[in-house]
Amino acid sequence: MQIIKTVAAMNGYIREAIQSGKCIGYVPTMGYLHDGHLSLIKEARKNNDIVVVSIFVNPTQFGPNEDLDSYPRDLDRDAALCEVEGADVIFHPTPEEMYPNGYSTYVETFGEITKKLCGASREGHFRGVTTVLTKLFNIVRPRNAYFGQKDAQQVAVVEKMVRELNYDIHIVPCPIVREKDGLAMSSRNSYLQGHEREDALVLSQSLELAKQMIADGERSTAVIKQAMCDKINSVESTEIDYVEIVDAQELENVETLSGDTLIALAVKVGKPRLIDNVRLEVK
Ligand code: PAJ
Repeated sequence: MQIIKTVAAMNGYIREAIQSGKCIGYVPTMGYLHDGHLSLIKEARKNNDIVVVSIFVNPTQFGPNEDLDSYPRDLDRDAALCEVEGADVIFHPTPEEMYPNGYSTYVETFGEITKKLCGASREGHFRGVTTVLTKLFNIVRPRNAYFGQKDAQQVAVVEKMVRELNYDIHIVPCPIVREKDGLAMSSRNSYLQGHEREDALVLSQSLELAKQMIADGERSTAVIKQAMCDKINSVESTEIDYVEIVDAQELENVETLSGDTLIALAVKVGKPRLIDNVRLEVK
């Protein structure tokens, strides 16, 4: 496995791979890898000749008061994990390599899809994501790119961007990987202190509660959201950013549940802001 740090070196590697007819699978990450990331690499390994993993903590998707500086990083550990999973290349550029002095080109998907949910509380976040992914897609030139449903809105935004910019890339959404007790895996779980780890279980538990209410016949999103908020608010260290029930394609609000539905939430548990969701077909 190689670790490549410059765009020029990646260009050389990718050009040669494509010239020799190789199918490239790509897993974009910000590193500090856990089993959620590794599930994407495993999936990519199944269906591609070459697997590229990028590790880049992308400054343009962090707001001014967010955790860019403290975001956890451990390249040696990440490289060892990628090697075990059979990745061929890690692309690990510096921020200056991706955004040299005077950098001024951005790619933005407009509309409700980027304004709601995480877009509402993280201004400019999706503009940073679509900008860096455009750059990374141009550098890696993958046939298949793998994303986790953990970031359901990110998947919806990336699918729309790829469709609208006519990228010939197949976006492969992969299921959320959870700890045994239900907590969705996240690099930010490492911020949880003491009892907050236990408190954070209320995120997945409130989604389970919603699923149960739907199974029992409840169809009012207001009633389900209220029950979820009550459950989350019963845990002292939490602070709700949003609890939303939307259609899973365009992320538009629905009053009465039916069809392809996304129940998504973002909650601060102590310091970290954690997200989780379920997607389900309501009959
Ligand atoms: P990062 O948060 O490192 O996540 C990289 C990929 O891993 C994303 O597609 C994310 O959805 C997936 N992932 C994270 N936790 C997961 C879990 N518990 N189960 C399944 N998949 C999981 O998302 C980003 O980085 C960045 O926004 C990026 C796309 C790299 C652009 O900078």
